[in-house]
Amino acid sequence: MEVLTTRRFEFSAAHRYWNPSWSPERNLEVFGKCTNEHGHGHNYVLEVTVAGEVDPDTGMVINLVDLKAIVGRVLEGFDHKHLNEDTPHFRDRQPTTENIVSVLWELIFGALPAVVRLAHLRLYETPDVFADYGGGPGAAFGRGYRFAAAHRLHSPALSPEENVATFGKCNNPAGHGHDYRFEVTVAGPVDAETGMVVNLADLDAAVAPLLEELDHTHLDRQQAHFAERPSTGENIVVYLWERLAAATGERLGWVRLWETPNNVFDYGGGA
Ligand code: NI
Repeated sequence: MEVLTTRRFEFSAAHRYWNPSWSPERNLEVFGKCTNEHGHGHNYVLEVTVAGEVDPDTGMVINLVDLKAIVGRVLEGFDHKHLNEDTPHFRDRQPTTENIVSVLWELIFGALPAVVRLAHLRLYETPDVFADYGGGPGAAFGRGYRFAAAHRLHSPALSPEENVATFGKCNNPAGHGHDYRFEVTVAGPVDAETGMVVNLADLDAAVAPLLEELDHTHLDRQQAHFAERPSTGENIVVYLWERLAAATGERLGWVRLWETPNNVFDYGGGA
């Protein structure tokens, strides 16, 4: 019986994106402000997930004290460092979230005891920018977005009484609203020159029209898609996925939608 255990870590580091084989103009075009020659920095958050059998004596997959020490030793090489200048890992690749997480994978993978298997790493560069890695050639890049919207849960397929019974307060005729937040992941190979699965600026540009349409609107009254179907989290997350698939292509992974911090919906395409 394999169980997954996840522990969260933090480290703070500086970095800079610069491809020496490109012109300064090309660097600026692709990497923008991240080309600043003195660097900039982030409070990185790393989620380490390991898998293994539960030890019958301790009841644990791995003692979290041990995991903390193992990963902590790896992160000593990163915390309060300049990733380009103070570590050997980014001499010939950009210290992007995708590349950092794969370097951390190699280092943590090699340091874990044989009784556990490194299952997954997620590295947040900011609360809205992250990369997922599970070994192998590709990675996933993730980005969080927000929109504020009013809605009313109401189904034309149900009677007025059934609508009230099903949706309760959310059936209020004038509507109510949420600060919706959603995360988009794009999966694929990491480009050797940029260190990216997808350029954040390109992803933002692909998502921008959808945010523009949804933000500060009443979903049921102003979005044709929700005129005849209830604007539930389930229907919204599928709508976001379908719109984003059209904008980003076949590499779109999962969309995760928070209607409130407590109500979360995931959709990854397919039937
Ligand atoms: Ni940065």
